[in-house]
Amino acid sequence: MSHAPHALGSRNVLRPHQAELFPDDTLKHRVARAICAANCLPRKEFYEAWEVARRVRRRHRGGRVWDLAAGHGVLAALLLILDDSSPEAVCVDRRRPPSQTKVLAALEARWPRLAGRVRFVEADLSSWGQAPAEVGDAPSEGDLVVSAHACGPLTDVVLQRATAAGARVAVLPCCHDKRRCEVPSFAPWLPVDVAIDIARVTRLEAQGYAVHTQQIPAAVTPKNRLIIAAPAHRTLS
Ligand SMILES: C[S@@+](CC[C@H](N)C(=O)[O-])C[C@H]1O[C@@H](n2cnc3c(N)ncnc32)[C@H](O)[C@@H]1O
Repeated sequence: MSHAPHALGSRNVLRPHQAELFPDDTLKHRVARAICAANCLPRKEFYEAWEVARRVRRRHRGGRVWDLAAGHGVLAALLLILDDSSPEAVCVDRRRPPSQTKVLAALEARWPRLAGRVRFVEADLSSWGQAPAEVGDAPSEGDLVVSAHACGPLTDVVLQRATAAGARVAVLPCCHDKRRCEVPSFAPWLPVDVAIDIARVTRLEAQGYAVHTQQIPAAVTPKNRLIIAAPAHRTLS
């Protein structure tokens, strides 16, 4: 059967009939078919979450997952699907998308072990996680903090929350805005978005983190630089 080109970065919703685009018995295709059944998730969000999750899980197993600026929380759910040794995933966003429960229910229908292990907290990240917290209320050492496309300086808030806790972290930054983001002195030599991300990497390293930089496919998103970091002492053990 021939198909129209399947634009990976399209914002069109994956519909139930498009499950036929994912016929294989691979984990990626099984997840995609479940997402199609949910009938509400933009295609781009599935591919972004998948590409980030599999790269993160190659480096970091286990730990409570915190998906900050989570949107539908697909990244959180995928991290549990890819590694069942994480006890739970907490999604934090200032607004819970109305279809978030639909997406999660579709994934739970296929992976019942997710049930009760992905929770959603509606909170503004500018204040969330700063006050002393009970374990489970905010990231702690050994946890894994992730964020896909936390816009502009929100990525820096995510990095700050993770490093303050000594947690592992992975971010896919977007919306580099030189009026709102911290712009390094060397920015005039480089495209400003690259300069801002390099400064993020050097800050992490100065904080004692070992950093791995990667890119997810540009066909999925042009904002495709992935920063994966962990306290250096953890990567040595
Ligand atoms: C571009 S979306 C990314 C959503 C999701 N991570 C993804 O990859 O599809 C940015 C998200 O950040 C959330 N957000 C923006 N500002 C926020 C804030 N101050 N506190 C918490 N969430 C925020 C928005 O509600 C939105 O869901």
